[in-house]
Amino acid sequence: MKKIEILKRLYKDYTKKYLNKIILSSIFSVIVAGSTSAIAWLLDPAIKKIFIEKDQSLLLLIPLLIILAFSAKGISLYIAKVLMIFVGEEVKKRLQFDMLRSLINADTQFIDRKHSGKFISNLTYDVQHITNLLSTAILNLVKDSLTLIGLLIVMFVQNWKLALISLIMIPLASFASRTLGKRMRKAATQAQEKSGFLTTYLVELFKNHKIAKIFQRENFEIDRANIHLVGLMEKNKKIGTLLVRMSPIMEVFTGIMIAILIYYSGKLIVNNEIEVNNFFSFLAAMMLAYQPVRSLSTLNMVINQGIAAASRILPIVDTVNKIKNIENAKELKITEGTINFKNIFFNYDSNEKSVLNNVNLEFQGGKMTALVGHSGSGKSTILNLIPRFYQASDGEINIDNQLINDVTLVSLRDKISLVSQETTLFDDTIKNNIKYAKENATDEEVFEVAKLSNAHDFIEKLPDGYETIIGENGLRLSGGEKQRISIARAMIKKSPIILLDEATSSLDSETETKIQEALSTLTKNKTTIVIAHRLSTVLNSNNIYLIDSGKVVDNGNHEDLLVSSKLYKNFYEKQMQR
Ligand SMILES: Nc1ncnc2c1ncn2[C@@H]1O[C@H](COP(=O)(O)OP(=O)(O)OP(=O)(O)O)[C@@H](O)[C@H]1O
Ligand SMILES: [Mg+2]
Repeated sequence: MKKIEILKRLYKDYTKKYLNKIILSSIFSVIVAGSTSAIAWLLDPAIKKIFIEKDQSLLLLIPLLIILAFSAKGISLYIAKVLMIFVGEEVKKRLQFDMLRSLINADTQFIDRKHSGKFISNLTYDVQHITNLLSTAILNLVKDSLTLIGLLIVMFVQNWKLALISLIMIPLASFASRTLGKRMRKAATQAQEKSGFLTTYLVELFKNHKIAKIFQRENFEIDRANIHLVGLMEKNKKIGTLLVRMSPIMEVFTGIMIAILIYYSGKLIVNNEIEVNNFFSFLAAMMLAYQPVRSLSTLNMVINQGIAAASRILPIVDTVNKIKNIENAKELKITEGTINFKNIFFNYDSNEKSVLNNVNLEFQGGKMTALVGHSGSGKSTILNLIPRFYQASDGEINIDNQLINDVTLVSLRDKISLVSQETTLFDDTIKNNIKYAKENATDEEVFEVAKLSNAHDFIEKLPDGYETIIGENGLRLSGGEKQRISIARAMIKKSPIILLDEATSSLDSETETKIQEALSTLTKNKTTIVIAHRLSTVLNSNNIYLIDSGKVVDNGNHEDLLVSSKLYKNFYEKQMQR
C-alpha cells in the first residue's frame, strides 16, 4: 500500500469515528495558540507603558492579563491533550480488536506461517506507533501549526522585516526533518523486527524451559537473550538519537537567527524603524515559536513510524480467508455419518511436494475406522481436512453425499468433535475447559461427561474441585489427566463425528484402561476416525487404513492385514503399544 492510501484507510476506519473529539480538541488548541501569542504580544505594552512611559495605571492590568493568558494556555492544553489521549486509546483498542478478530477467524495456514511472537509484537509495538500517529501527531499538527501561525502574526505585526528574515528557518528545519524522517522509517522497521524476534524468543523460552535445563543450555540461552536485547537496544538507540538530533540542529539555527536578528535590529533601531518594546515582543514570539517548530519537524518521523507499522498491521486485519462458505451454502445434514475421500491431493505449501497423493477413503457411519502408518505419513493431515482446517488442492470429500465445501462451516464443524494429538487446554477452571465445547452446558452435564471420561474422581480430589484453575496449557495436571479432560470436552458436544488423534505417549496400564473406557463411551455409535497407536484401538476398529507416504496402501481388519500386508505386520510388531 502507498503512504497516502494507508493514511486514507486509517482515517476512514479509525479516526473518522472520533471526529467530534478531534474537533473539540482542536478548538482548545486554538485557545492554546491564541494565549501563547497573547503572551508574546503582551510584552509590547508591558515594556512600553510600564518601563518606557512609566505609566502606573497598567501596573496591575498587564500582570493580571499575563496570569490569565498562561492559565488559559495551561488549561486548554490539558483538555486538548486529554481528549486526544482518549481518542488514541480508543483507536488502539479498536486496532487490536480488529487484528485479534482477524486472527481468531484466520485460516489455520495463515497462523502456521508466522511465529506467535511476531503477532504479539504486531499487537503491542506496531499498534502503539499507529496510535501515536493518530493521536499525538494529529494533536501536535493542529496545536503547533496554529500556535506557529499566531506567533508569526505577532512577529509580522511587531516588525515585518525581521519576521521575513526569521522565515528562513522554516525551510531549513523542514529539510532536516525530511532527511531524518527517511532514516527514521528504516530504523523503525528494523526495531520492529528486532522486537518481534525478542517476543518470539520469549515465547519459546517459557515453552522449552525444562529442555533448556536438562540439556544445560542456560548459558547458551543467556547469550541468546543478550544478543536479542543488544540488537533491540542498538536500534532503539538509533531511533532515540534520530529523534533528539533535531534539537541540536534547531538550537544552532535558533542561535544563528537570534544573532542575525540582533544585528539587523541594531541597524533598524538607529533608523527608528523599530522600538525596544517591539523588539522584545518579537523576540519572545520567536523564542516561543521554537517549541512548535521543533515539534512539527519531528512530526514527520512519528508519521513515518506510524505508517510503517500500519503497513504491517493492515494486511493482517484485511486477510481474506480462503476457507469460507460458498454462496448459498447449505446446512450439513447427517443421516448415517459416512465420510468419503475421493482422489484427494494436498500440500501444506504450494511449493512443496504433495503430502497426500490421490487418497481414497471411506469412513462408515456410526463405526470406528483406524488410520495407521509411520510418523509423517499423513494421518493427522487426513483428519485436518475433514473440518476444513485446510483445503485439499484436488479431489472431493463428502459427508453423507454432501460435499464439505458446499455446506456451511458452522454446520460442518458443529457435527465434529476433536481430541488432538497434543492436549491443549486453557488457563481456566476445569469446568470451563470442559464447557468450552458447549457454552450453555449445565453443571450436571459437566459432571456426567467427567464421570464417563473417568475424570470425575481426580477432579473431586483437587483443592477446588471443578473450579480448580489448571494453568497455562493445563500445566498443573498430569498427561493422563489432561487427556481425560479433553475427552470429557469432546464428549459434552455430543457430535455424530469424532476425530481422535491418539496420543503417542504411553501411560500406566490403569490410566490407559481408564482412557480406553472413556474413549469407547465417547465413540459409541458415532463415526469415529482414530489415528491409532495402540493395539486395543485397532482391535476395536471396524476397518483399518494403512497410510504410507501420503497414500492409502491397504485396508481391512487387524487379522486380515497381518496376513495381507507386510508393511502392516512390520508396523504392528515394531510400533504398536499393547
Ligand atoms: N502445518 C504444516 N505445515 C507444513 N507441513 C506440515 C504441517 N503439518 C505436517 N506437515 C508435513 O506433512 C507431512 C505429514 O504430516 P502428518 O502430521 O499428517 O503426519 P502423521 O502421519 O500424523 O505423523 P505422526 O504419526 O508423527 O503424527 C509431514 O511430512 C509433515 O512434515
Ligand atoms: Mg500426527
